[in-house]
Amino acid sequence: MEKLKKDLITVDFLVIGSGVAGLSYALKVADHGKVAIISKKQASESATFYAQGGIAAVLSGEDSFQMHIKDTLTAGAGLCHPDIVEMVVKSAPERIKELLNYGVKFTRWEDDQEHLDLTKEGGHSKRRIVHAKDLTGKEIEEKLLAKVMAHKNIRIYADFMAINLIKEGNTNTCWGAYVLDIKKKKVATFLSKVTVLATGGVGKVYLLTSNPDTSTGDGVAMAYRIGARIANLEFIQFHPTCLYHPEAKSFLISEAVRGEGGILRLKDGTAFMNKYHPLKDLAPRDIVARAIDAELKRTGDECVFLDITHKPAPFIKKHFPNIYKKCLFYGIDMTKTPIPVAPAAHYMCGGVMTDKDGSTNIRRLYALGEVAHTGLHGANRLASNSLLEAMVFAHNAARQSVIDICASVSFPAVKPWDIGQAVDSNESIIVAHNWDEIRRLMWNYVGIVRSDKRLARAKRRIELLQKEIAEYYWNFIITSDLLELRNIANVAELIIRSAISRKESRGLHYNIDYPVRNDLKWRKDTVLRRN
Ligand code: FAD
Ligand code: SIN
Repeated sequence: MEKLKKDLITVDFLVIGSGVAGLSYALKVADHGKVAIISKKQASESATFYAQGGIAAVLSGEDSFQMHIKDTLTAGAGLCHPDIVEMVVKSAPERIKELLNYGVKFTRWEDDQEHLDLTKEGGHSKRRIVHAKDLTGKEIEEKLLAKVMAHKNIRIYADFMAINLIKEGNTNTCWGAYVLDIKKKKVATFLSKVTVLATGGVGKVYLLTSNPDTSTGDGVAMAYRIGARIANLEFIQFHPTCLYHPEAKSFLISEAVRGEGGILRLKDGTAFMNKYHPLKDLAPRDIVARAIDAELKRTGDECVFLDITHKPAPFIKKHFPNIYKKCLFYGIDMTKTPIPVAPAAHYMCGGVMTDKDGSTNIRRLYALGEVAHTGLHGANRLASNSLLEAMVFAHNAARQSVIDICASVSFPAVKPWDIGQAVDSNESIIVAHNWDEIRRLMWNYVGIVRSDKRLARAKRRIELLQKEIAEYYWNFIITSDLLELRNIANVAELIIRSAISRKESRGLHYNIDYPVRNDLKWRKDTVLRRN
């Protein structure tokens, strides 16, 4: 990993984030110029690392592109961009081949190693999820990282956090970012011809989430601050089944468990999904999460139970070794006992608006992976379409941005970071309190079921909190905690504003004051832009 030797670093490509989006992009451009990847924790720490279920791709004779397209459009509830859906679905087999060439070991049939094993998840009409047991993300992240680290043109700066993007006002162009060296507490200027946001999602905005600590919406907040268009932030996906245990932070129980026969039950053993959807436990996620939420409110229970005990123990241990081990660690033997589960914030379907090549409305700025809104997911993402989206858009963006760096470029004069009158904070505890307050208010008022009253209350509170946070930001020397707090507050405000503006219920956005979908008025993206 790189150490900071000077305060100004100039590269061809600056990649902010080291999940699947950032790493696969970096590998594709590295033969064309110098690449710096910055990552705010150790390089492998990302949502990618924790992905379980797999990647959706049409690879079986029983499946077709048309079926994958239809399933994606159905889940998206009228807001997917059909041209993007078609492009992504048709690119999937090629991207899977690429991962295999990088050395990724996907699970294969036991009796025929030629065949990739395909599992099933909610909303998919066929088996089409390529996976590496239940540790797909770890396998992909580790193989990509190994390739990146071996490339002579790529430097990785771990424990470096992007603070703000650098924009030259007259030409609406991004020229890199100010970056905090977290360990040395110094700010460096990274100048670059192309800047790529690959910063992942926003799960940490909510009290309960499947996401790792890195998912604080930094990319959306930074892009919004320099005038990028942000779309559809009201569509936050809640995963129906996170492990419910006081000590288990953020552990997901993959949808593949339901794909392989798992049934959701109440405390007394009653299965309930038949009341909510003909696909029962394999209905799209928004429906399953809302059904669980309704049952919890009705019964007053804190969790429901995911039961796969009717399957043979060797089958469970072979398909879900990681989930089995983790549950056992918490005293739950999933081969004998149903797993206690509850919904948690999982995925941001909106984000920084891009075209089919990952370009934003700011020149030389790209957004890839979960931070981006490409039009693929619409109002609700189909399971296992996001690793795929990141790979496809990284591929397209690499092709496009290599052209961007060819034209001769002169960097504008950029001022070094100025700490002004800032001093060390003696009240860090207030930062921790504000974190907690935001996450609770988002969970309570902007969660799975919303209302006008709750959203208005959330808006008033976030505005107050933002004023307080702005004071810290200007008066105290920055830390990664404070920067993330500023970003989650920023993103929370954007989610609330987007949710308030959509006067209907669609996909992941459910407002009891407008319970019906209104295609005549609201079949459109919600777009926010500063000023
Ligand atoms: P990430 O993988 O989250 O990477 C973001 C990177 O940006 C990290 O390295 C982070 O440290 C860095 N970063 C963030 N902010 C800054 C900053 N300011 N400065 C520097 N670095 C920064 N999707 C599927 O398709 N299939 C699945 O099976 C699946 N399972 C999932 C299971 C879990 C538990 C979770 C949480 C998600 C799952 N998803 C799945 C979703 C999918 O994993 C993510 O959408 C995808 O990995 C996002 O990749 P990314 O590269 O965009 O972001
Ligand atoms: C899971 O394994 O349930 C997560 C899949 C996804 O989020 O796409």
